[in-house]
Amino acid sequence: MTPAIEFKNVVKTFVKGNGGIQAVLDGVSFSIPAGKTTVIAGGSGQGKSVTLKLVLGLMQPDSGQVLVHGQDVTRAKGKKLEQLRTQFGVLFQGSALFDSLTVFENVALPLRERTGRTEPEIRQQVGKTLAQLELTGHEDKYPAQLSGGMKKRVGLARAMQLNPSIMLFDEPTTGLDPVMTQDIYQLFAGTQAEFGFTSVIVSHDIPKIFNLADQVIILNSGKMDIFDSPEKIQWSEEPHIQEFVKTTMGKIYQSHLVEK
Ligand SMILES: Nc1ncnc2c1ncn2[C@@H]1O[C@H](COP(=O)(O)OP(=O)(O)O)[C@@H](O)[C@H]1O
Ligand SMILES: [Mg+2]
Repeated sequence: MTPAIEFKNVVKTFVKGNGGIQAVLDGVSFSIPAGKTTVIAGGSGQGKSVTLKLVLGLMQPDSGQVLVHGQDVTRAKGKKLEQLRTQFGVLFQGSALFDSLTVFENVALPLRERTGRTEPEIRQQVGKTLAQLELTGHEDKYPAQLSGGMKKRVGLARAMQLNPSIMLFDEPTTGLDPVMTQDIYQLFAGTQAEFGFTSVIVSHDIPKIFNLADQVIILNSGKMDIFDSPEKIQWSEEPHIQEFVKTTMGKIYQSHLVEK
């Protein structure tokens, strides 16, 4: 099966303030299987958001290919790029809701902007999604009246409106307490299972995301380590991965390291 997303030898560099060159992605290749959940982890500034921007064609790589369902995003322009982008639902940090619009209008926005749906059709579809995400009764509230977890759910509802085949989440639980974080991940897992989209989650919430990840990619110094099950991370012999395990995964995952 064609992967949902594929990077082939992708290089992305930036010129730093001091004139030096920073290779954020130093020739990385990986694929993201369709219909599964892939988690991208790694320290701050390692290139997680840059990776998502390359997928969306919001940034161009210096070299290499970025394929979405087999089509090269780096060569797409105009209408073709627009069409590639309609396959994505995006939920970035902070939910990016419009403060002056109600919950209903925030969620209805993509339908109004991108489809020719009639008002009754829009009411019906938005109502259905709001019910699925347990937001019924909150239609007329404004973002300022919502809890952090509710804002994320509204953001998710909006991202789902055009029935995307791929959902991209960039640190979706930032600012949430541990209980809400757990709730949001359960909601992601539930909607993913129901709708079958490909899910790519950039997250620091390790090991919380482990029970929903089918694949984990750890970004470090321009390179990627790919694990086809989260459990395998703890058995890596790579010193930088062992360090990652020690600093982020807590005691239960360290037992074998302590014994050595
Ligand atoms: N538009 C840009 N111009 C210059 N440098 C950038 C730009 N976008 C990102 N970077 C640099 O690339 C690195 C990776 O950024 P990013 O992907 O946002 O990190 P994170 O893994 O925290 O999401 C950072 O060092 C950042 O400073
Ligand atoms: Mg980021």
